[in-house]
Amino acid sequence: MNWRDKVILITGGSSGIGKATALAFAGRGANVVIASRDPERGEQALTDIREVGEALWVQTDVSQADQVAALVQTTIETYGRLDYAFNNGGSGGQGGWIADLNEEDWNATLHGYLTSVFLCMKYEIGAMLKTGGGVIVNNASVDGLRAFPWDPAYSAAKHGVIGLTKSTALQYAQQGIRINAVCPGWTRTPPIQQWIDNDPEAEGRMLQHQPIGRLGEPEEIAEAVVWLCSDGGSLVTGIALPVDGGYTAL
Ligand SMILES: NC(=O)c1ccc[n+]([C@@H]2O[C@H](COP(=O)([O-])OP(=O)(O)OC[C@H]3O[C@@H](n4cnc5c(N)ncnc54)[C@H](OP(=O)(O)O)[C@@H]3O)[C@@H](O)[C@H]2O)c1
Repeated sequence: MNWRDKVILITGGSSGIGKATALAFAGRGANVVIASRDPERGEQALTDIREVGEALWVQTDVSQADQVAALVQTTIETYGRLDYAFNNGGSGGQGGWIADLNEEDWNATLHGYLTSVFLCMKYEIGAMLKTGGGVIVNNASVDGLRAFPWDPAYSAAKHGVIGLTKSTALQYAQQGIRINAVCPGWTRTPPIQQWIDNDPEAEGRMLQHQPIGRLGEPEEIAEAVVWLCSDGGSLVTGIALPVDGGYTAL
């Protein structure tokens, strides 16, 4: 697969799974646009990604429609087209027991993890249709396929991402746009590593859900995204692909 002259937009590309995916695409020759909020992390990621290829960082809060529209516009103005998108970045409110969960946290989680994916797809699909199609991958989670009793709002948002992915895939299946989701299990990104560093027993609890006996690495999720975007995945649309070391097989 020749990725040169291809353009991919990756939200949350300044850290963890998003940054690993940006490095994977840039290293293969694609033009990579990463989007996130914090300038320091964004600029640092940009420096790292530019060591292997072409990249641009656009400060964006993916929960804000005007900022997402501007992000896609900047991508088109800079590189002329949009071929692929990995809707990965998001954030939410506090989790917890549902009877104690306040509406503000619920709304923050649903908006930050689900509405943000809707907003991204809305503007990305508009751009892709103008150049004959493309591929979108949404980052869901194993918590979109199974229960996550520690944070039902997060689980509901991620189940929503999968429903949105499948339904939108059917809407655009005959217009040259494939849309899939990846569902990572526990993956060693900065927030997960910080959790482990603060709670020495956390990793053991996570490993109870990882039959493979270790956490996933961000690069392993990135490779699944690359394949879903590649011509090798040309018949694949509307799936939610677990990349989870056996988590969902348990
Ligand atoms: N790590 C896991 O075990 C795991 C498992 C399943 C699914 N996931 C999913 O994977 C995705 C990435 O998680 P990660 O573990 O790689 O986390 P991470 O290392 O903290 O990266 C999150 C990225 O998203 C950006 N971001 C957060 N909120 C944003 C917003 N409102 N607008 C734009 N960018 C935003 C962050 O940058 P700024 O904060 O600067 O904006 C950062 O670049 C998430 O959707 C998460 O639910 C992770």
